[in-house]
Amino acid sequence: MLIDNHGREINYLRLAVTDRCNLRCFYCMPENGIKYMHRNDLLTFEEMTRLIRVFGDLGISKIRITGGEPFVRKGIVDFLEDIAALKTVEEIHITTNGTFTLDQIPSLEKIGIKSINLSLDSLDRQRFFDITRRDLFDHVFGTYQQLIASSIKVKVNMVVMQGRNIEDIYPMLELTKHDNVSVRFIEEMPFNGTEGQGNPTFWPAPKILDYIKDRYSIVKLIDPPASTSLNYQIEGHVGAFGIIPAYTRSFCGSCNRVRLTPQGTLRTCLYGEGQINFRDLIRQGATDEMLGDHLIKVVGKRAKDGFEAEKARDHMQPASESMATIGG
Ligand code: GTP
Ligand code: 5AD
Ligand code: SF4
Repeated sequence: MLIDNHGREINYLRLAVTDRCNLRCFYCMPENGIKYMHRNDLLTFEEMTRLIRVFGDLGISKIRITGGEPFVRKGIVDFLEDIAALKTVEEIHITTNGTFTLDQIPSLEKIGIKSINLSLDSLDRQRFFDITRRDLFDHVFGTYQQLIASSIKVKVNMVVMQGRNIEDIYPMLELTKHDNVSVRFIEEMPFNGTEGQGNPTFWPAPKILDYIKDRYSIVKLIDPPASTSLNYQIEGHVGAFGIIPAYTRSFCGSCNRVRLTPQGTLRTCLYGEGQINFRDLIRQGATDEMLGDHLIKVVGKRAKDGFEAEKARDHMQPASESMATIGG
């Protein structure tokens, strides 16, 4: 088992396989002028598979594939098949925008992907376009329906934003009436210069919950261990909903995760800086044992929570980063 310096078991790796995305969600990426990483700077699939194997021997059993948009990287499905065959990998999950997922659903079912978290910030075509700058709502919603009909568990991620998609909160909850889905309302993380909680337009978790309670009778569900979401159900509905206090960070106490960025930097907190670059270690000839030792070392020096990690950042580095380069 991999235990951090605060006694938390670390068994979950979030792996961002690319920084590229075909959408341009305004809270994540600018419309133009994005400088993507050079291909040679990215971890290769072979390097990622090796790291998952080495980390697996130390106790990492849950992998979430993120990006950017994971399905824009060529070869992703073969890679998923390869890592699913590793004995230490118990669960593979994917977070995707759903624009390239439809044709892959049968393969993903066959591989045994446990769940897909679909980023879908609006159920209205125009609002979806205004948020993502791409007219792909119909396609993504079609993918949602196919996923619901598949054997893969589905969660929908909606970042809650004043002036953008508050009108979508109730329609999203209506999805849970007949669909076996968990819709999660996420606090917006102000990575791109907005003020977060100090900002009167910010929707903190309790405000989202009050807004929901204004219309619905809800029951609290038991949250799975280390859950990011506080989970509920509307009486009589098949599905469930959750609220993710991503910015107010009330779940850090049970944090069980580390992250690898597309270029191989390991982060022990979403809000912190990169700790060590595994791509460089691999390309300098590190053995499996050396890679494992480095993981144990950084996990032994984790910040207690996202606030401590944020405070420890080198403030000479740009504070606003795109989630596409971290993987959410
Ligand atoms: P599950 O494994 O299904 O619980 O998914 P998840 O919530 O861990 O992951 P997902 O990729 O669906 O992310 C949903 C939201 O939670 C995104 O806005 C993430 O940025 C945020 N989130 C995920 N992990 C963390 C974390 O470690 N810290 C914080 N503060 N937010 C996180
Ligand atoms: N705040 C909150 N969530 C975000 N995501 C991307 N950027 C932000 C942000 N600034 C979400 C995406 C995706 C998940 C990985 O992170 O919508 O569902
Ligand atoms: Fe873990 Fe940092 Fe996220 Fe808190 S903010 S749950 S410590 S990654």
